Amino acid sequence: MAVLETPRLILRQFGEEDLDLLAELMANRDFMRFSLGAFSREQTAAFLKKTLGWKSAGLPSLFAVIVREHSKLIGYCGFFHQEIDETNEIEIAYRFHPDYWGRGLATEAARAVRDHAFRDLKLSRVISLIHPDNRASRRIAEKNAMKVDKKTVHVVFPPLFLRSRVSSGWRQVPPDKLARECAIGNGGRSIGVIF
Ligand SMILES: CC(C)(COP(=O)(O)OP(=O)(O)OC[C@H]1O[C@@H](n2cnc3c(N)ncnc32)[C@H](O)[C@@H]1OP(=O)(O)O)[C@@H](O)C(=O)NCCC(=O)NCCS
Repeated sequence: MAVLETPRLILRQFGEEDLDLLAELMANRDFMRFSLGAFSREQTAAFLKKTLGWKSAGLPSLFAVIVREHSKLIGYCGFFHQEIDETNEIEIAYRFHPDYWGRGLATEAARAVRDHAFRDLKLSRVISLIHPDNRASRRIAEKNAMKVDKKTVHVVFPPLFLRSRVSSGWRQVPPDKLARECAIGNGGRSIGVIF
């Protein structure tokens, strides 16, 4: 898995040794806004295991986000596998410690991840699943050249906006074709939904 560099951030792969710091982040209710609420250490361990599992299977996964200035882990940004309306999708997901909000860091990270998706991984499509009230996240998606695709209902949430971006302009992709196109770097197997 590549390391992505931006002017202020390093996006590197997660390792088991990140559990303590990640558990601290995921226990923070603000870090976990617009999700399932603060995580226990056990829930974070399961989350990290899932992330590491994608990585070992050669699938796109989340990156640990490190601030260059002081080498601190402040959150994550990267790829999350979702099943949306019976279709496997690859989401660009991000969460940052509230001390680092409002500095453009999430925009910087999300842009690097989007470029990596199309340039290096040759993904044909990525999405972002965003709660309608999450204005900061909607703005990041807009600045990532994403457009609202549709509304959907996900797990415990009310209708969510689904923002999508394809590698070369906007187009509609039939779900079965999309599933085939998502089979990258994995011996031709389709990406399974690991949720
Ligand atoms: C969403 C999140 C990652 C944004 O991080 P961030 O580093 O503050 O984002 P940025 O500084 O890059 O700002 C992104 C844009 O949102 C805007 N923004 C930030 N907070 C906002 C708010 N509360 N309301 C409206 N716009 C907001 C910023 O002004 C910026 O737009 P601009 O460049 O046009 O000014 C951060 O708030 C977070 O971790 N939230 C909790 C987890 C979460 O919601 N993740 C996304 C799930 S879909």
